[in-house]
Amino acid sequence: MGRPGFSPRGGGGDRGGFRGRGGGRGGFGGRGGGGDRGGFRGGRGGGRGGFRGGDRGGGFRGGDRGGRGGRGFGRGGRGGMRGGKKVVVEPHRHEGVFIARGKEDALVTLNMVPGESVYGEKRIAVEDGEKKIEYRAWNPFRSKLAAAILGGVDKIHIKPGCKVLYLGAASGTTVSHVSDIVGPEGLVYAVEFSHRSGRDLINVAKKRTNIIPIIEDARHPHKYRMLVGMVDTIFADVAQPDQARIVAINAHHFLKNGGHVVISIKANCIDSTAAPEAVFAEEVNKMKTEKIKPQEQLTLEPYERDHAVVVGCYRPPPKKTG
Ligand SMILES: C[S@@+](CC[C@H](N)C(=O)[O-])C[C@H]1O[C@@H](n2cnc3c(N)ncnc32)[C@H](O)[C@@H]1O
Repeated sequence: MGRPGFSPRGGGGDRGGFRGRGGGRGGFGGRGGGGDRGGFRGGRGGGRGGFRGGDRGGGFRGGDRGGRGGRGFGRGGRGGMRGGKKVVVEPHRHEGVFIARGKEDALVTLNMVPGESVYGEKRIAVEDGEKKIEYRAWNPFRSKLAAAILGGVDKIHIKPGCKVLYLGAASGTTVSHVSDIVGPEGLVYAVEFSHRSGRDLINVAKKRTNIIPIIEDARHPHKYRMLVGMVDTIFADVAQPDQARIVAINAHHFLKNGGHVVISIKANCIDSTAAPEAVFAEEVNKMKTEKIKPQEQLTLEPYERDHAVVVGCYRPPPKKTG
């Protein structure tokens, strides 16, 4: 059995789901030889929503086509969905993520703290029978994870009940949506070394009991080993040249075998002189040497330039033969 072959499809914008401008996709062949099928199972459900570039408030045009067409909820209207008196919220194919369908579609998560926004994002109240529930718009221009979802990433490995170690939490923008997704049964260990951002993060965590804020340098996981249990998934967005090493050392401490990493790579933070594709490939190589098997790669256009998200599996269980 060969080593996973890298299929260099992940360059810039080689899939056109987003009106011809979509984020590029790359896969990793599962069986050596550089086949471009195998580990990568993208293609289906490439959910896309057109986001109006100028609007940072949460309205989308177009629609996610990757949803499984789940049932719609009641109707809403409050919370500032643009022009939307009637909003139907449907489950996205990523469990715990939703699409609010109104005049403009929006990616949303179920608000763990109804009545509260975290970073000024719009909220959408809907009636579910007797109950009123609230969703928060998730802006792909402010969150690389949201950009990856709208770019059609196959798996995010973050779902209700999951335990996630989040490296590079900043003020908690994306962390708050991860907190919504994993819900009350899940946990988000959120590591951020800037004290300034850390203050905001701590305030977010005061209201969201599933977030454990850790104001430490992610390069030194032994400093927070007493706080963090084993996790299902590591999400990393530290924008540092040594990010691959930072992820690896945290994986060795806290990631269960067969768990996953989801890494956002900003090419020019790693090497501003090299072509982004070369930087992404080098980062993928570093992951492989750390027992992280790459599974999926996509670029984040049109939301971010020269960024990629790479998904990998840590110490995957051996394949059964026969
Ligand atoms: C691109 S921002 C993260 C944005 C955030 N993920 C979001 O979507 O809301 C990168 C963050 O990583 C933090 N960071 C960089 N290096 C770090 C390290 N070694 N340990 C912990 N945090 C780090 C920075 O302070 C910054 O807040």
